Amino acid sequence: MNIDDSPDMCYLPDMFAETQKIANRFRLSEHIVVYPGDCLNLLKDCPDDLFKLIVTSPPYNIGKEYERKLDLDKYLLQQELVIKECVRTLSPRGSICWQVGNYVDKGSIIPLDTILYPIFTGLGLKMRNRIIWHFEHGLHCTKRFSGRYEAIVWFTKSDDYTFNLDPIRVPQKYPGKKHFKGIKVGQYSSNPLGKNPGDLWIIPNVKSNHIEKTEHPCQYPVELIERLVLALTDANDWVFDPFLGTGTTIIAAIKHSRKGAGAEIVQKYISLAKDRIKQFLAGTLKTRPMNRPVYDPVKAGNSLTISPWKKRNDRGQLRIFDPSEDNERYVNR
Ligand SMILES: C[S@@+](CC[C@H](N)C(=O)[O-])C[C@H]1O[C@@H](n2cnc3c(N)ncnc32)[C@H](O)[C@@H]1O
Repeated sequence: MNIDDSPDMCYLPDMFAETQKIANRFRLSEHIVVYPGDCLNLLKDCPDDLFKLIVTSPPYNIGKEYERKLDLDKYLLQQELVIKECVRTLSPRGSICWQVGNYVDKGSIIPLDTILYPIFTGLGLKMRNRIIWHFEHGLHCTKRFSGRYEAIVWFTKSDDYTFNLDPIRVPQKYPGKKHFKGIKVGQYSSNPLGKNPGDLWIIPNVKSNHIEKTEHPCQYPVELIERLVLALTDANDWVFDPFLGTGTTIIAAIKHSRKGAGAEIVQKYISLAKDRIKQFLAGTLKTRPMNRPVYDPVKAGNSLTISPWKKRNDRGQLRIFDPSEDNERYVNR
């Protein structure tokens, strides 16, 4: 692939020129890098011990339009080459997060994180969490339960790693709860900043009605990566994505004053990534806000939640049952 060395400029005030420029090659002086080519070539230009967070969703080797399905062994060797370079370029206080689902072989599933785990630990990394990302939409299976989660496996290079809990706390279920014994009796027991979000994250996936959807078949949502950026990096740190797709990782990074770099081999996704980053810089990119509750069609009164076979009462009103609150009501529709 020919690499066009001229930077993509967004025409913004001079004082922001450096932070608003999308460079095609990695240099320490840049803030945003979208490398049009193989991630291993980009990684060659990156120094040791730099990136505070490397987060990606790699190809799953399932024959998507941007990948050639390989023997599993070959796929793992390819992943290992990239992961090795990622570990070299990872800050001693840094984290690697690999967001993966299942490899499917003749109907049999292999969770990719389970077979990638020995690669990470073999390179001396320690696993800190296996985060379950749960979403509600996807293919409807007929011969097994429909897949409604993927995993994010989080590893660190050392025991002394960045972890900022306060920026990613979520509201408590019972903020009014008080200590009932001991010296703090009567005082509120929960942290007013919220609680640790845990390792089960319920965040909508990017399907056709998602505000961030592009023509890429496998985008992850910005809010998923924002949480990792906020927890695992500080302002001005570098965030890197070897398999950049539509630039989601860079958007999550620069949204929180970090620097972002990534590689992508498919031209239409490179263009999409640059367009999205430019839209973000211009303040026009729509992203789903972090911590917005998942849409509940019953609570929202969506008429499609009413089963056509449901009966009306004798006043002609429809019965609506809200399973989350275990109650029923009648509405005029
Ligand atoms: C699962 S997608 C990532 C999507 C991304 N997380 C997003 O939100 O848009 C994986 C991407 O890796 C790209 N890719 C595959 N092999 C690559 C390589 N060797 N170097 C760089 N990118 C590669 C594919 O074209 C694809 O867009």
